[in-house]
Amino acid sequence: MQNSSELGIFVEGLTKSFGSVHALRGIDLAVPRGTVLGVLGPNGAGKTTAVRILTTLLLPDSGRALVEGRDVVREAAAVRRLIGLSGQSAAIQEELTGRENLEIIGRLYHLSRAQSRSRAVELLDQFGLGDAANRTAKTYSGGMQRRLDLAASLVGSPKVLFLDEPTTGLDPRSRLGMWDIIRSLVEVGTTLLLTTQYLDEADELADQIVVIDHGLVIAAGTAEELKTQVGGDVLEFTVPDRAQISEAVAAVARIGEGEPHADKETGVVNVGVGGRGSDALIAAVRGLDAAEVRTQGLALRRPSLDDVFLALTGHAAEEDGQADEQRRGIRGWGRGRGGQGGGGQGGGGQGGRGQGGRSGPDGRGRPDARGRANATSSRGAS
Ligand SMILES: Nc1ncnc2c1ncn2[C@@H]1O[C@H](COP(=O)(O)OP(=O)(O)OP(=O)(O)O)[C@@H](O)[C@H]1O
Ligand SMILES: [Mg+2]
Repeated sequence: MQNSSELGIFVEGLTKSFGSVHALRGIDLAVPRGTVLGVLGPNGAGKTTAVRILTTLLLPDSGRALVEGRDVVREAAAVRRLIGLSGQSAAIQEELTGRENLEIIGRLYHLSRAQSRSRAVELLDQFGLGDAANRTAKTYSGGMQRRLDLAASLVGSPKVLFLDEPTTGLDPRSRLGMWDIIRSLVEVGTTLLLTTQYLDEADELADQIVVIDHGLVIAAGTAEELKTQVGGDVLEFTVPDRAQISEAVAAVARIGEGEPHADKETGVVNVGVGGRGSDALIAAVRGLDAAEVRTQGLALRRPSLDDVFLALTGHAAEEDGQADEQRRGIRGWGRGRGGQGGGGQGGGGQGGRGQGGRSGPDGRGRPDARGRANATSSRGAS
């Protein structure tokens, strides 16, 4: 373990409750300077709570958090000078122009009027907002507002930047643009903590990932390590004739590394096949053919964020309190092998698919603008 003062972010045993809701139940994080930590977790996992504590907006109940070696409680003012935050809800003033928004923040950072102006121009250009600089922010599209919000978080040239779901609600092109911006920040040595529900985003941007759920870190590692924990590739197909599902399951049972899972409603069957990729695909085609099961869309895919969630947590990316009948036992192929357990929550009760949170069929998780699992439920609480 590195010396905590050498880390961009160090968190130890952090807890926070809101009444009876235990939002954080003792999380530890260590982010080396100049690296990116991706924090993944379903709605209500505690991501925003952690970000708010680390950015001095909220006091923890117990535990310790240091940013650039400064304690977020005892040295809050010093921490504020070191950090930038682009939160889940944009903090920009809609009645002001893009330029005015950034200039005001520059003044809050005690830049001179001239410095504030030139910093604003520089950032607006960098974020592709130069042409819109003199329009009020309320006329900006959602993606432009998101970029302006990120630009605002950079006015003070932060050493450590917190981005809480920076690409939620962006269209695919804007997401890629945002990724470029984030990469360029990392190039200049900024330490970054990024929360997201998109595995592909964490995959692209994060050096290390932690998965949190119910206020605990339940897995940590690189994106590849996490995917490996859920057992390699996934073979998936649909059985149009639901009466043939059990035959289909039997036909692929031998080739899988775990039990196949079938959704009787949608007819989707999937099974983890580890690293056996195309061999497994061929075996599946032969087996299904021999059993005379007709299928659609037979394909191999990499595990998606949903799979990681399912395997690690035993439930999908959706807040607790969903009616059990909404939790359909689909997908997933058992608990994470080598996963650090989910503490028994949910047990075998995977399911609850969120609303439209499917990743792309190739498992690279290419969500559309709304493609996250349940983007709304606990928004108001954040
Ligand atoms: N101010 C608050 N008062 C009461 N409960 C809160 C408050 N803030 C958060 N919570 C609760 O704490 C838990 C964690 O919330 P948090 O916002 O940290 O989750 P999150 O991981 O950011 O979720 P999301 O993906 O939906 O943004 C949730 O159960 C939430 O309802
Ligand atoms: Mg949040």
